[in-house]
Amino acid sequence: MPPVSAIRAALLNWYDAHARTLAWRSSPGTAARPDPYRVWLSEVMLQQTTTPHATPYFQAFTARWPAVSDLAAAEDGEVMAAWAGLGYYARARNLLACARAVTRDHGGVFPDTEAGLLALPGVGTYTAAAVAAIAFDRPANVVDGNVERVMARLFAVETPLPAARSRLRELAGTLVGDDRPGDWAQALMDLGATVCRPKTPLCERCPLTEWCAAYGSGRPERYPLKARKADRPHRSGTAWVLRDGQGRVALVRRPDKGLLGGMLGLPTGDWTAAPQPTPPPVAAEWRDAGAVEHVFTHFSLTLTVHAAEGHGDFIWTPEGEALESLPTVFRKALERGLA
Ligand code: ADE
Repeated sequence: MPPVSAIRAALLNWYDAHARTLAWRSSPGTAARPDPYRVWLSEVMLQQTTTPHATPYFQAFTARWPAVSDLAAAEDGEVMAAWAGLGYYARARNLLACARAVTRDHGGVFPDTEAGLLALPGVGTYTAAAVAAIAFDRPANVVDGNVERVMARLFAVETPLPAARSRLRELAGTLVGDDRPGDWAQALMDLGATVCRPKTPLCERCPLTEWCAAYGSGRPERYPLKARKADRPHRSGTAWVLRDGQGRVALVRRPDKGLLGGMLGLPTGDWTAAPQPTPPPVAAEWRDAGAVEHVFTHFSLTLTVHAAEGHGDFIWTPEGEALESLPTVFRKALERGLA
């Protein structure tokens, strides 16, 4: 058995000296707990993106809606617009549903237990554990990708991901304790983000090397092992780049459910195993603009791009803005269509 108390003490000491300063965080060891609303909001945003990208959104949201009841009272459209750029509108809808449930059913006060949090709309295992630990100092087992990697290395877990997931969660649970649970959760995340990095771990800065089995093996970057990607199925589809001749491009809002749900995209047909002709969204002089390749988790895609000038009922968006905010697959296709 690893010396749990020595490992905990070493990491908490490291955190006292090296905690990142983040907009939603209170400093390590401070008696004042951070505002649960801010913790919850930050955790939802951070499931979507990195800390540098989330920070300006976090600041804008909390300036405009300082309390959960303010967010609950906001118009749906305002919140969706403020969320734009963070992706997955389904999350923004869940965010609003949760703010309204807390305001309506709990008098604007977040439940202070993992089980109570888990019962809120849109709050899953990770968010419930993270808020319980960080906002309420409950000894919850908070496991994200960073924590999985730290556990895989500390214990040199030879089972590859994703099969190892339940084992890694169990191992993380053996280190959770009643002393400073919020700081513990954040210390693990910070260690994973800044030291126990995916490709180039900085073991010389790590407070846990003396107990780290992966470090002992000499090849810490080997962990976590990953199942060789099964050969992905391939699909084909067509994307349509329609321009209005005034610097704007036609976009559509994708259905909430499914791949890239709720996000903006180019008009496109079904993506199918066998290429098949797709009718254009409007009649125009379509020219063939080539094709782009994109690899999703569960399949790879060849998207044939057609471009034209025209009009119609679309979300007309300045081309520069579209290039910045579209999901990668559509950004690639748009670049082709504009070339
Ligand atoms: N990633 C997700 N949540 C985080 C947090 N609270 N601190 C640091 N990194 C995080």
